[in-house]
Amino acid sequence: MTTTMPKPKDARGLAGQTIGDTEICSVNQTSLIYRGYEIADLAANATFEEVAHLLIVGHKASPSELKDFKDELRGLREIPEGLKTVLREIAPSGVAHPMAILRTGVSYLSHFDPDVEDNSSDAEHRKAKRLLAQIPTIIGYGQMVRDGKTPVDPDPSLDHCANLLWCMSGERPDELRAKVMDVSLILYAEHDFNASTFTGRVIASTMSDMHSAVCGAIGALKGELHGGANEKAMEMLQEIDAYIAEGGNTAAFMQKAFDEKRKLMGFGHRVYKNGDHRAGIMREWGYQVAEKVGPEGLKWFALGDEVKRIMLEEKSIHANVDFPCGQTYYVMGIPVPQYTPLFVAARVTGWCAHIMEQHRDNRIIRPLANYSGPELRSWQG
Ligand code: COA
Repeated sequence: MTTTMPKPKDARGLAGQTIGDTEICSVNQTSLIYRGYEIADLAANATFEEVAHLLIVGHKASPSELKDFKDELRGLREIPEGLKTVLREIAPSGVAHPMAILRTGVSYLSHFDPDVEDNSSDAEHRKAKRLLAQIPTIIGYGQMVRDGKTPVDPDPSLDHCANLLWCMSGERPDELRAKVMDVSLILYAEHDFNASTFTGRVIASTMSDMHSAVCGAIGALKGELHGGANEKAMEMLQEIDAYIAEGGNTAAFMQKAFDEKRKLMGFGHRVYKNGDHRAGIMREWGYQVAEKVGPEGLKWFALGDEVKRIMLEEKSIHANVDFPCGQTYYVMGIPVPQYTPLFVAARVTGWCAHIMEQHRDNRIIRPLANYSGPELRSWQG
C-alpha cells in the first residue's frame, strides 16, 4: 500500500529551504551582497559594467581590465541579419510579448555562437559576454519595429545603458536617464536562488548549455510573480488612476482588491519581510526623473506613495524593487511591455555567473516529490 504524507503549507514553493551554496550573492533580511559588496555601495559607487564584470569574471575590475571589458562588450553588440529578419516578422504581430521575443532571440543567437556546446570555463565567459552585449540590441531592435521605426545600429561610442536606451528609441538619452537605467540594472543584476536563477541552474545541472539555461530563465522571469511584476505594478497604478478619474479613490480601490483577495503587484517578497533594500534606492533615482518630467511624472510617485502607505497600514506588506522600477521606467517614457526585458538585460549577468558556478561543481539537481495521488490500484479494475 502506498502511504501519503501530509504536505505542510509553508513547505510549498521550497519556502525557507536552503538548497545549495553560492559564492555569488547573499540575500537576507538585513542586506543584499554581490561577491562581498553591499548593494547600496554598488548602486552609489559602481557602474553596471563594473557590476557585470564582478559577477561574470568574478572580481572587481582594475582600471585596465574594465577598459578591456567595456571595449570587448562594445564590439560584441551586433546581432545576425537572420535574427533581424525574425524580429521584423514577430515583433509587430501584436501577439508576441517582448519577453517571448527575447526568448526567441536568445535561442536564435545560440545557433550562431561558435561556443554553444562548449561548457568549459573559457567558452562560458565568452558566451556570457556575447549575451550581455547582444540582449540590448534584441530588445532595442524589437521595440523599434513595434513602434514602426527604422531600427538603429548599436552605438560603440555609448556605454552599456546609454546604448540600450539609444537602441530602444533612436534617441541619445540625457545623463540622468542613462544613470538611472544604469542604477536599475545594478539593482536587478543578481539575487541568489530566485526562481529564474534556480531554473537556469537546474537546466545547467543536466550539463545542458548556457543559452538553453538562459532561455529557461527568461521563461521563469516572465511570470508576474517574478520579473513580470514590474509591468503589472505600473499597470495597476494606471488602473487606480483610471478608477480615480471615474470618481473613486485609492483607498476604495485597495479595499476592493483586499476583499477580492487580489495580489497587489510590486508588493511582498519571499525573503524580505521588512522591506526590499533595492526599493528605496530605485525610488530616489526614479523620483529625480519624475521631477524633471514635471507634474505628469510626479503624479505617479504621489499615487504610488499612497498605495504603499495603505498596503503597509492594512497588510504590513512592503513594496519590492519592481514597484519603483515600474514607476521609474514609466516616467522615463519606456513602453510598459519592455520592463521585464530590461530586467533580463541586467539579470543575465547573475544567471551566467550561476550557470558557470553550477557547471564548475556540478551534481544534477533532482529533488524528491511527496506523492499525494491515489492508492495503488489495478488497471484491469
Ligand atoms: N498582495 C496581497 N497579498 C499579498 C501579497 C501581495 N502582493 N504578497 C503576499 N501577500 C499575502 C499572501 O497572500 C499571504 O497571505 P495568506 O497568508 O493570507 O495566504 C501572505 O501575504 C504571505 O505571503 P508570502 O508567504 O510572504 O508570499 P510568498 O513568499 O509565497 O510569495 C510573492 C512572494 C513575491 C510571490 C508574493 O508576495 C506576490 O505574489 N507578490 C506580488 C508579485 C510581485 O510583486 N512579485 C515580485 C517579487 S520581487
